[in-house]
Amino acid sequence: MLSRMKVLANVVLVFVLLVGCSAKADEPVAGEKGAAAKIEPPIAVQGAMDVEVSEFLKAMGEYKEEKHGNYSFYIGEIEGIPIVVSRTEVGMVNAAASTTLLIENYHPKAVINQGTAGGHDPDIHVFDTVIGTEVVNIGSFRSEHLDDGQGMAPEKWIHMSTKLREKDGEAKEYTTLPSDPELIEAAKRAAGEYEHGNVVEGVIGSADWWNREIDRIQWFHENFRTSGEEMEAFAVAQVTHLMDVPYLSLRTISNSEVTDDDIEDLETAGKYGAEFTIDVVKEMAK
Ligand code: 5AD
Repeated sequence: MLSRMKVLANVVLVFVLLVGCSAKADEPVAGEKGAAAKIEPPIAVQGAMDVEVSEFLKAMGEYKEEKHGNYSFYIGEIEGIPIVVSRTEVGMVNAAASTTLLIENYHPKAVINQGTAGGHDPDIHVFDTVIGTEVVNIGSFRSEHLDDGQGMAPEKWIHMSTKLREKDGEAKEYTTLPSDPELIEAAKRAAGEYEHGNVVEGVIGSADWWNREIDRIQWFHENFRTSGEEMEAFAVAQVTHLMDVPYLSLRTISNSEVTDDDIEDLETAGKYGAEFTIDVVKEMAK
């Protein structure tokens, strides 16, 4: 009888252990008497390159690295605020893939895509920071037919909007995608802390392109009101929109062909941008 009870106790123990272990990290853990202890979802901050994420790792001090595919995610806290840092790698496809993995694995309450950018506005200087109130895909165009030998006419290219499937099942066309209004407000509140230049609101253009042709830059600025260009924001805006996660674009200008700054410094701009982002995260947590 005693040994039978022992076997039963062991079966119950194994069952409890199995159920306990199968709970995913992001699920609330059942505490005593079945009460669920809430785990606070993290704020996600993204940077494409090491120079755009290293400041977050420094601020976290202790963190855990997890990989999904070859994309790295760093889990920790900044002043008690749960953070997941995502190194997206450079470009639109990397940004979309890593954002999908980020949301699926960490269920962040907001995604901040931040980092460096090239200036498009002659009034915005290197080390100024742009709050991307809207983002536009400046790699999405169609052309009219030209005959053999008629050359290429980029200035006649016609912008193609992006069709996104909404919650109600209808598809809607977007020329630009917005950042979340509450996150924009948090960024504006943090702007006073920024000491390396101006913080301005503007439109960020994204494409798998690094443009140095001044006429092309001016064409984007005039036709799409771009303050700057980079290679990830629109892809992240698209995925976060489709997966219903609040989104914010922040970019610190690291180079500009349309000012006389004559600086190209991604490392310093990456550091300043991440420091500002940390102030924005703190504002969000208030
Ligand atoms: N054009 C395009 N991308 C830029 N970046 C910084 N400046 C520019 C620029 N002028 C950013 C991109 C990408 C990396 C090459 O740097 O977002 O991640």
